[in-house]
Amino acid sequence: MLHPVIRPRRLRATPALRALTAETRLHPSQLVLPMFVREGASEPVAIESMPGVVQHSLESLRVAVAEAAEVGVGGVMLFGVPEHKDARGSGAVDPDGILNVATRVAVEAAGDSLIVQTDLCLDEFTDHGHCGVLDDRGRVDNDATLLVYREMALAQAAAGSQLIGLSGMMDGQTAAVREALDEAGYHDVPLLAYSAKYASAFYGPFREAVQSSLVGDRRSYQLEPGNRREGLREVELDIAEGADIVMVKPAMSYLDVLADTAAVSSVPVWAYQVSGEYAMIEAAAANGWIDRDRAILESVISIRRAGADVVLSYFAIELARSLRVGR
Ligand code: PBG
Repeated sequence: MLHPVIRPRRLRATPALRALTAETRLHPSQLVLPMFVREGASEPVAIESMPGVVQHSLESLRVAVAEAAEVGVGGVMLFGVPEHKDARGSGAVDPDGILNVATRVAVEAAGDSLIVQTDLCLDEFTDHGHCGVLDDRGRVDNDATLLVYREMALAQAAAGSQLIGLSGMMDGQTAAVREALDEAGYHDVPLLAYSAKYASAFYGPFREAVQSSLVGDRRSYQLEPGNRREGLREVELDIAEGADIVMVKPAMSYLDVLADTAAVSSVPVWAYQVSGEYAMIEAAAANGWIDRDRAILESVISIRRAGADVVLSYFAIELARSLRVGR
């Protein structure tokens, strides 16, 4: 046949037709900005491996949260960078610890316009850099860690966290934290479970961002990159334990896990475009090897297409702003 009857290109002919037939859309409210707050900082401190991202001072945090709210970003996710670390990660449960102080500041700056979330994990606070406390043989002690997570959750809820992100990959953490919060009357504080969190090289720049003291790796608690079924098992467990939202992390190398999760989940599904995914785009763009703006949008749209309702991204403010202007 010389002339095809079926012509999919018809719907691609003009920008208006393409917009009308777009299968995946992105709205600023579907973006969450992860932010770092450094104890004792009077000025924001640059993070070399994440150009454009900083460790905030409390003052610059306030300004940046207000800016995120202004452009319609749905939430911010806070990480603390403490001045002092110890074996138990005491700074995490201290009401005056940096993450808890930063939460109060962010909640005040955000008003009702966006959600202030906190990362619940010990790695930023421990001198050995692991996500939990260690037993006498130096192994991460799951159940002893749950006790600290319970305390940490109470400190975060007391500081005003509006969504607690469980990123430590300890067995039973969702149930343990839910129980601790409920017993203390925090029934309304929702839990975001980083359910399918893989032991990934793409967290590299994050380690600089939080000045991690980790030697070794997290493979005794985070998932093996090749395990797809196991990712789903973690998702199912977290939903059964009461997670309000589940997450897949990193995003771009795990889109199959994300699609699997979206197909079965009875709760919202989020994904985290992590530090290394950010750094790769920035580095390639800085070399003139890719079109930065298009790469940013394409990466986040792909994550949405695979099934994420919301994407955590260090590009959130910039992306939200450009979505409002329209491309
Ligand atoms: C753990 C945590 C990590 C990230 C988010 N929460 C680091 C890790 O598990 O090693 C990584 C985020 C990123 O790379 O952007 N607190």
